[in-house]
Amino acid sequence: MTGLDFHRHLNLQAKSPSERDAILANPGFVDHFTDHMVDICWSETGGWHRPRIQAYGPIELDPAAAVLHYGQEIFEGMKAFRHADGSIWTFRPDANARRLNASAVRMALPELPVEYFLDSLKALISVDAEWVPSSPDMSLYIRPFMFAKEAFLGVRPAKKVAYYVIAGPAGSYFKGGVAPVSIWLSEHYSRAGKGGTGAAKTGGNYAASLVAQNEAYANGCQQVLFLDSVEGKYLEELGGMNVVLVYKDGSIVTPLSDSILPGITRDSILQLAEERGHTVTRRPVSIDEWREGAANGDIVEAFACGTAAVVTPIGQVKAKDFTIGSADAEPGELTMSLRQELTDIQYGRREDTHGWMYRLDA
Ligand code: PLP
Ligand code: COI
Repeated sequence: MTGLDFHRHLNLQAKSPSERDAILANPGFVDHFTDHMVDICWSETGGWHRPRIQAYGPIELDPAAAVLHYGQEIFEGMKAFRHADGSIWTFRPDANARRLNASAVRMALPELPVEYFLDSLKALISVDAEWVPSSPDMSLYIRPFMFAKEAFLGVRPAKKVAYYVIAGPAGSYFKGGVAPVSIWLSEHYSRAGKGGTGAAKTGGNYAASLVAQNEAYANGCQQVLFLDSVEGKYLEELGGMNVVLVYKDGSIVTPLSDSILPGITRDSILQLAEERGHTVTRRPVSIDEWREGAANGDIVEAFACGTAAVVTPIGQVKAKDFTIGSADAEPGELTMSLRQELTDIQYGRREDTHGWMYRLDA
């Protein structure tokens, strides 16, 4: 079935069907993990080797493992969807594979051949298929990640690396489902800088976002919006999602910056919008433009998008000295219809005319 020959060590303490069903009935956002994980080793001399499927559980690491000290780590986030006929599919995994490798290059980690990436997803589903929820709007969130495991304290790229895939059932990322969220504008902290790692999916970017995310919580917001680190003027992205603005003439604008993560959800949504005839522009967009546009009626909708959040309307942006929009704003019409179109494709309710879906259980 797969190109790589995975050694299988099945989990003898796997959850019983009734334990699993109880979790699937109320999964939260990956509050629980499946019974297995996949790992593949890499060394400078041996390349990628020893692909394994094993019980989900703690990883043994030397205390000097480079990842624990210098954060040489990257990850991906994707979802598996169960279609009405029971089959299991994921969305644009080739794009995630390419992005993982772009992150690997930036973080001086080895690239993983795309077919190994696809094989690793199929390998996990081959043992944990029962964990893919069949309820509407639920999915199995899949987290591939790679880190430096060589033990040494000098600062250099590690010569031993591990790649893992773990997964867990997921309902909606935000507690309110698709209700509009409030976003806190971080005016003090930047997420990423010029020439930095902002475009890579690496742990350090998220570590850098946490203090600002705490500010967001303290101000009653669910996510934080970062601005560019040079002028503190242009929109970048949220802690874990991209941002898109909709204008009253139907045109759509999203920030262009080389320090944000190139989101696969955003890319797909914008393609769907273009196919409907909307003009889509990727350009620098300032917080003042958003503020003024929302006030004078030029900007009529805003949404956050990402694998975890899918497409979530933004009700308001709160800053220290001003607010854009309001917490009880209605979800935007275009926002919701693009969300519907995307999820219909993902869940197999609408024909996949783009060749975006990839079957994992066959
Ligand atoms: N930006 C950040 C910082 C993210 O963590 C994510 C989520 O993965 C995204 C954007 C959206 O990316 P994608 O749509 O590929 O999930
Ligand atoms: C994702 O959407 O996959 C992410 O990595 C973001 C995080 C908020 C879960």
